[in-house]
Amino acid sequence: MINIALPKGRLGEVVYLLLEKAGYGCGEYPADGRKLIINCGENGVNYFWVKPSDSAVYVELGAADAGIAGKDVLGETQPDVYEIMDLNVGKCKLCVAAKNGFKDDLSRPLRVATKYVNSAENYFASIGREIEIIKLNGSIELAPVLGLSDVIFDVVETGATLKENDLCVLEEVTDVSARFIVNKSAYKFKSKEINLLAQSLKGILKNGNIKI
Ligand code: PRP
Repeated sequence: MINIALPKGRLGEVVYLLLEKAGYGCGEYPADGRKLIINCGENGVNYFWVKPSDSAVYVELGAADAGIAGKDVLGETQPDVYEIMDLNVGKCKLCVAAKNGFKDDLSRPLRVATKYVNSAENYFASIGREIEIIKLNGSIELAPVLGLSDVIFDVVETGATLKENDLCVLEEVTDVSARFIVNKSAYKFKSKEINLLAQSLKGILKNGNIKI
């Protein structure tokens, strides 16, 4: 059996669809109920529904053999796992954004609201801009609107949240997508099963026969 940590929410739905097409489904979509562990014994997998930001933790610590995590989370937490494949779904960009018309005042540190503290610190250090981090866990776009921060460092997918809140992108920092990750010991002990699953996923992605 391979134990797989799947991110709850829209990304998980899309990834589950991929896995189902790859031959690792378990009948109907398994995240409709409140059950967090779904056993698909006949296909040799167990699915764990986890918070998207936690899936790499389950995999790194071996509670799951494999999982799906966004590159944003992997970049932020740098877990000690193998990153096997880019699934090319859950695509978005990590961006710096601010209120329309924002002008940076270089005489003081830039106040940056984000949940990606390490990634933001690395990025601003790379461009030599001194910052002050305001760590938030969600609704990041509210911070500049309320004057809590000057800018945000956050993922932008459709851009709708920025637009609705009169914000705009100042800088696109990096591309993000979902990655298939594997625990390092599991990759040794279950290499046959994991490689088979990875190959099946690759086949699905290559055929492009999935509508996201
Ligand atoms: C993410 C992100 C933005 C939004 C971007 O939030 O933090 O707020 O999605 O998407 P868009 O460009 O398509 O509008 P999420 O939905 O994860 O909720 P959160 O505010 O709790 O982080």
